[in-house]
Formats: sequence, C-alpha cells, structure tokens
Amino acid sequence: MGQKDSSNQYETDLLHSFVLSEFSAPKKFPNEFHPFLKNEWQLLIEQVRSIELNIIKNLPIPGLEAFYHGAIGHMISCNFYPKVDKSQSINLRLSKHVDVSLFTVFVFGASEGFAFQNLKNETQVLALTDNIIIFPGYLLEFLTNGKYKALEHQVDFLNPHRERYSFAFFSLPKPNLTLKFMDRTFTSEAYFKNYLSLF
Ligand SMILES: [Fe+2]
Repeated sequence: MGQKDSSNQYETDLLHSFVLSEFSAPKKFPNEFHPFLKNEWQLLIEQVRSIELNIIKNLPIPGLEAFYHGAIGHMISCNFYPKVDKSQSINLRLSKHVDVSLFTVFVFGASEGFAFQNLKNETQVLALTDNIIIFPGYLLEFLTNGKYKALEHQVDFLNPHRERYSFAFFSLPKPNLTLKFMDRTFTSEAYFKNYLSLF
C-alpha cells in the first residue's frame, strides 16, 4: 500500500497484494504456501480453466481456443483492503483500470465495493455475491483489436471501516513465448509492455 514504484498499481490505491502463479517454481514462494501449491493449486486451476473454456467455446473468435491451450497460464492476485480512515484518502479503494488478463475470475464471489463501467458507460455497483464472477481483461481486447472490450472496474468506499478481501485469477500469456494470433506475431513481453503503457 502506498508503493510509489509499482508498475501496475497506483500509489493512492489502498490495498496490500500478493501474487501466486504457475510461472515461478513453488519453492520460490514462502513455506506457508507450499501445502496449498502442492495439494490445491492444480485442482483450482483446472476449475478456472473449465469456466474460461466454456465461455471461449461460445465466443465467435476463430483461433481463441487453440491460443488459450498453447499460450495461457494462471496467477492469482490475493488482495487485502484494510480498514481505513476515509479522510486520508481519495474517492476509491482501487482506481479504475482494466486487468492484464484474458479473463479475470473471482472464484469466491465479490465483496461489497466492486463497481464497473456498464454498456451505457455508467459506473454500476455489483451487489455482494457468492457466485463466481468472470469478466474480460485487456488481452481479449488486444487479441480482437478492440472488438471485445476489457471491463473497466474499480473498488469504491462503501464501508471504509470494514476490511475487504478479493481473490482474482488472471489468465495470462506464459512468459518468454512468441505468440501468434490471427495475422499477428508478438512476444508475451511485448504484450505486457503494451498493457503497462496504459498506466
Ligand atoms: Fe482489476
């Protein structure tokens, strides 16, 4: 929180975040996470993949399913929004942004405060839910040249005195790949650079 040199989070954002992923060897994560990574991670990823593939199979985007199988891996962003004195802050707990992912999946539903830009370009509040939430990220917009827009979203201050958690799975290009989609060829790193230029 308050980190000045984050490449993808604003200094004013009021959350602590850590990331687990399949892109680093499990032993590189703290010991506390090893049982989870050994026993539960793979099952969770398989479930997230099946949710995403269900949607991909129903989207009229030629080649997307093959791209997903060849290029996509997962990370989870685990976010803790502590109680705050709202007077310290600006309007939002988390600034409006789009995610780097093809899709973002909230496996545990959404706590109060999540809001998004709807099709009328109004900010719409998502009701508290235990249902799984999935929405498109910037990779889908990038691959389809803007035909499918990434969902802009933010976290509002509905109750600054209540702490908040979110667990977001991101489907991302695996590192160090040369990727082909339709008539374009690009590296994973070029994609990430393109995304970070939004900030
Ligand atoms: Fe996000």
